[in-house]
Amino acid sequence: MSLTATSPSRDLSDTVRYALHGRAAVIFLDNPPVNGLGDTVRRGVHEGLALARADAGVDAIVIAGAGKAFCGGADIRQFNTPAATARPMLRDVIAAIEASGKPVVAAIHGFALGGGLELALGCHYRVAQAGARLGLPEVNLGLVPGGGGTQRLPRLIGVLPALEMIQSGKPLDAAAALAAGLVDAVAEGDLLDAALSYALERAHLASHPVASRRALSADGVDFSAARARVNPKARNAIAQRAAVDCVEAATRLPIEAGLDEERRLFDALVEGDASKALRHLFFAEKEAPRVSGGGRAGEVGRVGILGAGTMGGGIAMAFSNAGYSVTLYERDQAALDRGMALIRKNYEITAAKGKLDAAGVEARLARIAPSLDLQDLAPADLVIEAVFEDMAVKQAVFRQLDAVCKPGAILATNTSRLNIDEIAACTARPEAVIGLHFFSPANVMKLLEVVRGARTGADVIATCMAVAQKIGKIPVLVGVCEGFVGNRMLTGYWREAGFLLEEGASPQQIDGALTRFGMAMGPLAMADLAGMDINWATRKRLAPTRPAHLRYSKVADRICELGRFGQKTQAGYYRYEPGSRQPLPDPVVDGIIEECAREAGIVRRPVSDEEIVERCMLALVNEGARIIEEGIAQRASDVDVVYVHGYGFPGARGGPMFYAQTLGLAATLEKIRALQRVHGGHWAPAALLEHRVEEGATVF
Ligand code: NAI
Repeated sequence: MSLTATSPSRDLSDTVRYALHGRAAVIFLDNPPVNGLGDTVRRGVHEGLALARADAGVDAIVIAGAGKAFCGGADIRQFNTPAATARPMLRDVIAAIEASGKPVVAAIHGFALGGGLELALGCHYRVAQAGARLGLPEVNLGLVPGGGGTQRLPRLIGVLPALEMIQSGKPLDAAAALAAGLVDAVAEGDLLDAALSYALERAHLASHPVASRRALSADGVDFSAARARVNPKARNAIAQRAAVDCVEAATRLPIEAGLDEERRLFDALVEGDASKALRHLFFAEKEAPRVSGGGRAGEVGRVGILGAGTMGGGIAMAFSNAGYSVTLYERDQAALDRGMALIRKNYEITAAKGKLDAAGVEARLARIAPSLDLQDLAPADLVIEAVFEDMAVKQAVFRQLDAVCKPGAILATNTSRLNIDEIAACTARPEAVIGLHFFSPANVMKLLEVVRGARTGADVIATCMAVAQKIGKIPVLVGVCEGFVGNRMLTGYWREAGFLLEEGASPQQIDGALTRFGMAMGPLAMADLAGMDINWATRKRLAPTRPAHLRYSKVADRICELGRFGQKTQAGYYRYEPGSRQPLPDPVVDGIIEECAREAGIVRRPVSDEEIVERCMLALVNEGARIIEEGIAQRASDVDVVYVHGYGFPGARGGPMFYAQTLGLAATLEKIRALQRVHGGHWAPAALLEHRVEEGATVF
């Protein structure tokens, strides 16, 4: 017998099948892709249980999943809809299982996650296939398990292991689950056979174990300490603390009251902005790699990289980590040696943290072949250029690559701002040229902006989106413009920060207000980290195109004119002690700010934190809307993915475009218009925002 066997079965609902196997009934969840516990699934299982319990020919019941897994949990798409709370709820289904005199066994293959594991926890026994994963990942969506998981899991495996599983959201594999007491048996062979035998062997027993009736001891567990250990910066901090509340309730309250308390906390979270934001991101991240245009992804075996500097080295590591063979080309031996030494050092740091063993370090290094001969890039399927950010240098490199690389190879540039089309134009194969904009450190940051040029081929785009996912990145397809999506939006964000400095805020106040809002770093500390000289060069390059009538803050230029480029020169918006990354206030900068304000005729005033957050955030939102309107991003949620994964935007706020939606699009437009009245031209509202508000839309 196998999970896909078509033994005579009947449909109990659109999503649940019922079959008899001798003296056992099998209830199959059949709701692709992951058997989510939507309303029809819950109803079908409930009905199946009633049938089996009433049938004198049935001695035991197995609940199994059709397709690739037992059950992936609640149907997230139904959250905040009436279907989510339609009876029977999961709690009613589990009550029916617990009331059954006939043993009910969960047969778990693939995974049992979230509500799927809660359903299994409600069963008398759990038999898992070797390799199956069991977990409660609700915290990742800013939630706690809402179907009894926080009450039953501690009763089965103990308070501390349960807390760990619920707070981390990390699943256990079948073997670990067996050791923890979460499953009763692991099946090496056919799972359904094993589950049926297991169930029928126990059919004669007078009673069966019910997790919720087990005694629970919380001896010595310090719940306050568990709450205090939650990282307040974690995007799901609220949910993690609520998870502790739930488990503590399990130790204090009888089961029914504990289930009520869990549900109360779940309902509060599911209605809250933080969980809505995390659920938005969950779908946004899944959606991001999808592109229209119908290209077919080709195979990438060998990867070539030019430039072993900050980015080239990180990109080489990202590919090597995923098992790719990499050729890393530099223009001279010293630079190549420096680059390879840094890669080795980075791997050794990872090993020192216990995340990689010595063999792992060597294997990763062995996959990166250093080279001073451009011919070595000839066999590469994908070549990524990460040399200096200078159009003439990049064009020269692309001419050479065009001559050397095999036909069909993809020629990518890691430029963060330059025009891909101008680079493509100096090759005879513009359809093969694309931007792959990694973020620093490239072996760590998950975001990849895939920049499509005017002539980039659909297959080339499809290949790059696929390869990006193979190396663990979240690729977002963007169009050519100054700064693409992420850096283009930064321009307005930094502009407002500069204006706010002149108007009366200090660097510390601006960065403090925005980090309290949730940004990983404030804009000025970030400029110091990235290197203020890079933006300075961009501003100088763009100066001829800057409209003369628009206000311009000279603060950043004046700081750069003193040779202060940020952390690398131990001075930028802040000063830095040697060897320290700690930004310290600097009276020199205060003086520059006051001087710029005086020259611009600005009378400095107290600026509130609210104003700082509003102006910096709305600058992001307005530019983001223009980017969507121009088709530079495929969708609003892509802009959110870019900001959360590339720029330290707080996940619990869902990204700038989602944040605007939580403010309300009409309210957002109103605020932008008010800023335009006071501050003028920079604040012309994006046409898309105006249209969406006219249409009465609540989303972009
Ligand atoms: P870097 O200065 O650390 O490294 C550049 C490397 O390229 C140097 O090792 C240099 O020797 C080498 N190089 C220069 N010309 C070459 C040539 N013709 N052939 C082979 N190698 C050559 O610069 P970084 O920061 O790694 O930046 C590289 C590119 O990545 C730039 O286009 C930059 O805009 C972009 N980028 C940088 C980011 C960052 O945070 N540093 C983020 C995203 C993109």
